[in-house]
This record gives sequence, structure tokens and C-alpha cells, in this order.
Amino acid sequence: MKLDFPRYTERLGAVSIHAVQRIYELDSGKSKGFLTSHQTIKKFDYDEISNLLHDMAIVIPLKEERLKLLEGVLSGIPNECLVIIVSNSPRSPVDRYAMEVETVRLLGRFMDKRIVMIHQRDSAVGSILKKLKYNSILDSTGHVRAGKAEGMVLGLLIAKMYHKDYVGFIDADNYVPGAVNEYVKIFAAGFGMASSPYCNVRISWVFKPKVRNNSLQFSKWGRVSETTNKYLNSLLSSVTGFETDIIKTGNSGEHALSMPLADCLHYSSGYSIEPYEFVDVFEKFGGILPSKYPNVVEKGVEVFQIETRNPHFHEDKGKMHLNHMLEGSLAIIAASSICPSDLKRALRDQISQITGVKKQKKLDHRTRYPLIAPISTVPIAEFAKEVRENAETFYRLGGLK
Ligand code: GDP
Ligand code: CO
Repeated sequence: MKLDFPRYTERLGAVSIHAVQRIYELDSGKSKGFLTSHQTIKKFDYDEISNLLHDMAIVIPLKEERLKLLEGVLSGIPNECLVIIVSNSPRSPVDRYAMEVETVRLLGRFMDKRIVMIHQRDSAVGSILKKLKYNSILDSTGHVRAGKAEGMVLGLLIAKMYHKDYVGFIDADNYVPGAVNEYVKIFAAGFGMASSPYCNVRISWVFKPKVRNNSLQFSKWGRVSETTNKYLNSLLSSVTGFETDIIKTGNSGEHALSMPLADCLHYSSGYSIEPYEFVDVFEKFGGILPSKYPNVVEKGVEVFQIETRNPHFHEDKGKMHLNHMLEGSLAIIAASSICPSDLKRALRDQISQITGVKKQKKLDHRTRYPLIAPISTVPIAEFAKEVRENAETFYRLGGLK
């Protein structure tokens, strides 16, 4: 893969946010290093990418997706990666999870991949996490809450149990296996470029095509991401004093975290998890509030945003879903302790426009989007042992223990 170095970087305390980078060749052959003496382009050869992928897990959050799409996504993930599927599909009246397991099991024979599957609402998983005092992910019945973020955090714990250094997230509803393959290689290239162990790689889609008037429109931004990015940039500008449009990946479901960074983040529930990563990184390492993580501050946190060559085609889940996602994204920015009051006001206006609910004076967004504690608080060896022994929905393929 051949891509450029970031053209510019915004800094906020210990956080470096790199501008969107372009890919020049998806496959740059076997040679590595730099293209010219100017060192503006970086090449990664097969072996470099492959070595990084060996240390990477790909977590696929899955809820009632078409199995054909899941199959395509699996076919796009390079063989070196450990695949972790966390499902929240219904178990009755039809056991969708059993169908997912069966599909993956049959495919696994041909793919010869290392794949782990687990159901988010497995009651043993809830009990184990309760015993280990990881209560922030549980609902009142003692199960892991429903929600995409909750599934992703469970995926992170499983990646940690298999000692992975990097974790990438890829949605199960992608129509293009080639795009999935590109995302994973982009994650590897991002980590390969990082100079800090605390690193976040986010995918910026080149196009998100839509069908309008019976023809394909290659639109770049949807309403949700445009609005979320605008407000995340406002948050950043309010601290630095300089207007910026550097953030382009606020809602990127396709993103990856190095395990040392994943270990110390809080996660916001449901669909607000992706933009909240920015907010949390600013709060913890942006130098505005005192940091509890001197090691991280010393090494710095890097955020890469890399633009794909493949367009993004996924399931259209309708306007209600998009509104819900936008509301969550804006709400968690408004709830931040570093969000200035004029920005809070603007966000409240936006939220009441979306929801149609009149402005509330005191918005308690944190109750609607509770935070999940850092995964470093879970004793991982004990979690691993208990999951292996007791979680009934825990499946392993490809000779995994
Ligand atoms: P969008 O692509 O961001 O609009 O959101 P999607 O609805 O496509 O969801 C992204 C991914 O998360 C898909 O693979 C969903 O199947 C999955 N997902 C949604 N809700 C849940 C959930 O509650 N638990 C899990 N584990 N996955 C979920
Ligand atoms: Co989707």
C-alpha cells in the first residue's frame, strides 16, 4: 500500500490529529520504504502489512444482518487477523444466533480462519462481568446491555484475552468485500505509521453512493457525519482558538484502536461510541483537564484519518436510525465537561430540531448515553478463564483455544 504522510496535524495537548491521508496504490508490490527522497509518500510491502495483521483482531458487531453480507465481510478480512463476531441478534422465536453460528462454521471450513463468536446477551457473560465488578456495561437484569458500543467493548475484552495489540471494527452490513479488505490494510498502515503506542486509525470514505432518480450519486458526506464533524471541529476550535475542519471521521464505524489506548478510554453507549472517542481523548489527554495518565501524555496520542479508494456501500436503515445516531452524537459532545456554554446551546437547538422535543433546560445526556468504564479495570486472565468455562454462546474456529 502506498499513501501520503499527513499534510498537516492539529495538536491539542498530547493529542495529534492528522489530516485525511490519501492512498495512491492499494498494492504497491514487494518493495518498501519511501518513494522519493522527499519522504512524502510511505510504502508498506506485503510482509510489513502481514506482520501488523498478525497482531490484530477485527471485531464485527452484528445484529440481524443478512447472512450473505456477513459472509462477504468475512471473505474480505485477511487471513492473519483474528475475527471476533459479537452478536446481539434475537434468539427467539427463531434463533438467529444459531443460524449465524452455523453459517460461520460452514464457511470456516473453507476459509480456514481463526474466528471467535459470542452472544452479547449470554447470561454467563453478564454474570462474569458482574463478578469482576465491570458494572457499567450491565443492565438492571445483570446482562450486557443491548447496543452496538456494548458489543464492541465485549469484542475488545475478547481481543485482549487473545493478547492482540490492535483492534479494528468493521460493520457486518457491508456489500463490498474488497472495501473490507482495504479497511483492514488501512488499519495496518496507520499503526505502521504511528510513532506512539496510543493510536486511533479512522476510515474516511471516499464516497458513500446513493441511488437518486434511478442513477448512482457519488455523494461524499451524509447529513449525520457532516453535522457531527462540524460540532467536533467546533469543540476543538473552542479550545485551541483556531477554527479548523480537520475532523472528517466523527461517525466512522470503521476504525481501529491500539490496545494501550483502548485500555484507558471510556466508551459511550450505543451509536455515540465513535464520536465520543474524540471527546474522551480531548478530555483525558488534551491538556485542558488534569490527566490521570502521565505515561500516555508523555508518549502522545495519535489519530490518523485515512481515505479509502473503495466506495462504501452498506444497508440503508432509514431516517429514524440516522436521526437517532445524530442525536446521540450531538448529545455526547454537549455533555462534555470541556464543551463551552455557547456550543452547548447550539447543540441543544440542533437536538431539539431533530427530536421535535422542545428545548429542555437541563439535558441529562449522560443518563441516556451512559459511559462504559475502561477495559483495563477488568482482570483479563480471570475473564478469559470464566468465559472459556461458562459462556454457552462462545464458539471458536480454526483451532483456537
Ligand atoms: P450504521 O452503519 O452506522 O448506520 O449502523 P448499522 O445499523 O449498520 O450498525 C453498525 C453495525 O453494528 C452493524 O454491523 C450492526 O449489525 C451492528 N449492531 C447494531 N446494533 C447492535 C447491537 O446492539 N449489538 C451488536 N453486537 N451489534 C450491533
Ligand atoms: Co451500516
